[in-house]
Amino acid sequence: MLRRVLPMVDTASVLDEAQRRSRELDTLHRLAEAVSDALRGEDVLTRSLTALLEMGWFTCGEALLRREDHRPLQAVSVGLCPFDPLGECPKRPDLVARGDQVLAEGRVVRHGEWLLVPVDDVAMLALSGGQEVSEGFLGAVTDVIRASLKHAHLLQRLAEKEQQRSRLLQAFLTAQEEERGRISRDLHDQIGQALTGILLGLDQNLDRPDAHSLSQLKELAAVTLADVRRIALDLRHSVLDELGLEAGIRRYARDVHERYGLDVSVLVNLPSRLDRQEEIVLYRVVQEGLTNIVRHATARHGSVVVTSYNSYVQCVVEDDGIGFRPEALLPGEQVGLMGMRERLEVLGGSLRIESELGQGTALYARLPVR
Ligand SMILES: Nc1ncnc2c1ncn2[C@@H]1O[C@H](COP(=O)(O)OP(=O)(O)OP(=O)(O)O)[C@@H](O)[C@H]1O
Ligand SMILES: [Mg+2]
Repeated sequence: MLRRVLPMVDTASVLDEAQRRSRELDTLHRLAEAVSDALRGEDVLTRSLTALLEMGWFTCGEALLRREDHRPLQAVSVGLCPFDPLGECPKRPDLVARGDQVLAEGRVVRHGEWLLVPVDDVAMLALSGGQEVSEGFLGAVTDVIRASLKHAHLLQRLAEKEQQRSRLLQAFLTAQEEERGRISRDLHDQIGQALTGILLGLDQNLDRPDAHSLSQLKELAAVTLADVRRIALDLRHSVLDELGLEAGIRRYARDVHERYGLDVSVLVNLPSRLDRQEEIVLYRVVQEGLTNIVRHATARHGSVVVTSYNSYVQCVVEDDGIGFRPEALLPGEQVGLMGMRERLEVLGGSLRIESELGQGTALYARLPVR
């Protein structure tokens, strides 16, 4: 009788292989869970390393990260060294020194007892001890970590945008409150008092009409009317809505001239009207720029030039005053300038400040246009 010859199967090694695969899958699952809600690159790397050590693949490891372009690599896995849990891994300086080369080469490198594993072009794991790992498993591990780093980076950018948005909202609300306060003071102090004076004068004239006093009252009424016009002008958004950016800027420049004597030339060259938001932002830049000239520049002359280019509109507010050193300002000393910059950036634009002591100041505000 013919017996079929079956190939010999090493049951033990098949079982081993199955167990190893199962542990690999468990590890990947654990890894993905550990990093799923990490918001910072450091956390992604430290948690990944912890998971790999706890699953027994390695006995020791370091996570290295370059936080910003051109900065040296830094170890972010402080406290994970099993030989010195409170302190630093004694091998760290050596690993950091090799790190740049490994990141540049972009492939796993053996370095003594260490396995140096680049995750992406700014992050690296250094692993040592434990068991042999397959290339496929190591590749899957780095894929998970790389995806989580990207995710964390996006979340961080989102959080920054959210912070910027709430700062802007706060600044907007404060500005609105200040403006209301100013208008209320103007109405109370100027218009209220002037009208009271007119009323009292008219009362006296009802009994004994007097041509000279009536002519004074008429003059006072005319001045009051001019004040009312100015206050109405300050409610700038409606001015912009009705007249557009160019007329709004011209009226603001004229007002600055009348109030503070500053000579301001205006040149606006726009083929058509911009979006309402864009007009408001540029008008705000002009307002803050001219107010700064009046308050800080001791200038003889100011100018506003708005020009349209292919893909953007540029607004330059310039003076021939004393100038300043923008780089020397602390964050708390440039709330006005920062507000300008943030408003522009929300619409995808930018602000450049050119100024030097004794050389005047120029603000270049740019907004992209469709
Ligand atoms: N045109 C300018 N000429 C000279 N110095 C200027 C000019 N514009 C700004 N500066 C300097 O930059 C600083 C910051 O300006 P910024 O508008 O941010 O704040 P501020 O005008 O002092 O206060 P505010 O928050 O009320 O605007 C000013 O305090 C001033 O020292
Ligand atoms: Mg200011």
